[in-house]
Amino acid sequence: MVDDGGMRAAIEGMGQQLLEGDRIGGEAGGDLAMPTAVVIAGMGGSAMSGELLRALVIGDCAVPITRVRGFGVPSWAGPGTLVVCSSYSGDTAETLACADQAHGQGASLLCVGMGGALEQRARAWGEPFAQVPGGLHPRAALGYLFGAMAGAFAACGLSRAGIAGECAQGVAAVDRDAAAALGGRLATTIPLIYGSGPMAAVAYRWKTQLNENAKMHAFSHAFPELDHNEIVAWEGAPSGTFAAVLLRDRGERDETRRMIEATAELIGQDAVLVEQVEGRGDTAAARAFSMVAHGDWVSYHAALERGVNPTPVDRIGRLKQRIGE
Ligand code: F6R
Repeated sequence: MVDDGGMRAAIEGMGQQLLEGDRIGGEAGGDLAMPTAVVIAGMGGSAMSGELLRALVIGDCAVPITRVRGFGVPSWAGPGTLVVCSSYSGDTAETLACADQAHGQGASLLCVGMGGALEQRARAWGEPFAQVPGGLHPRAALGYLFGAMAGAFAACGLSRAGIAGECAQGVAAVDRDAAAALGGRLATTIPLIYGSGPMAAVAYRWKTQLNENAKMHAFSHAFPELDHNEIVAWEGAPSGTFAAVLLRDRGERDETRRMIEATAELIGQDAVLVEQVEGRGDTAAARAFSMVAHGDWVSYHAALERGVNPTPVDRIGRLKQRIGE
């Protein structure tokens, strides 16, 4: 099996991407006024950057941050609201529809991507465009997209500065050997990835990377909510099928920690394996991105184990062709 699409190099470059993205976003966001609310619009790999940033800043942010993955923004997103439109290609129909609606409603916009129709719209409307380098698959450009958004958030007062740098430190701390081993073990299972707080957003990244890189089903859920529904499904789990991966963070609340540990015990006999992986680093941002990188490597090695090329996502391309995107 060959990785002829450069996925390994892209994952290896995530730390550099974060720093470069931060610089680009800082410049693009320099003229933004502090908004009264934020909406982050995007799909797939480009939505992930907003999902992660929101999870990391929401606790301290002075204004509400919501996100949409679809064809529209809320009707309240007008003057005073910042709508961040994230599309790496710049040609994703849903994100363009959000940009059009937000512009029509009088919201401020920040567009993030490599170019495409989104860039054209931003330039025509005189809205800031954080232009990141092209040539990657969107999910492999996460560092650029996240960094750009984090840089712009810091520039307009939505968050403190330095988050992307902390994330880059977390990426550098990743245990690649452990990730490779886990990827091999998950390759023949259906992994269920669980986390709490920011690690719930990271769990979703693991799910989508396993889907797209390893071409396998995987699902994610969040503590403590999953202890009120999904935990019961383990009672009926077909044997030898599901694996559980628990993304741990030493910053998790005591109550949550107790729930996670009890859950691991309760589902242990129903799972092919229960793996607990702990984020590395001094800050929540570093720990989250050490786990983002860990998951990217897990998905990469799961792909190799399954004998599939991690880079192409033919079905997404075929779907976009069918709908004329
Ligand atoms: C491809 C990928 C997809 C795209 C999605 C939206 O690597 O991850 O999920 O991100 O189809 O396209 P963009 O990101 O160009 O707006």
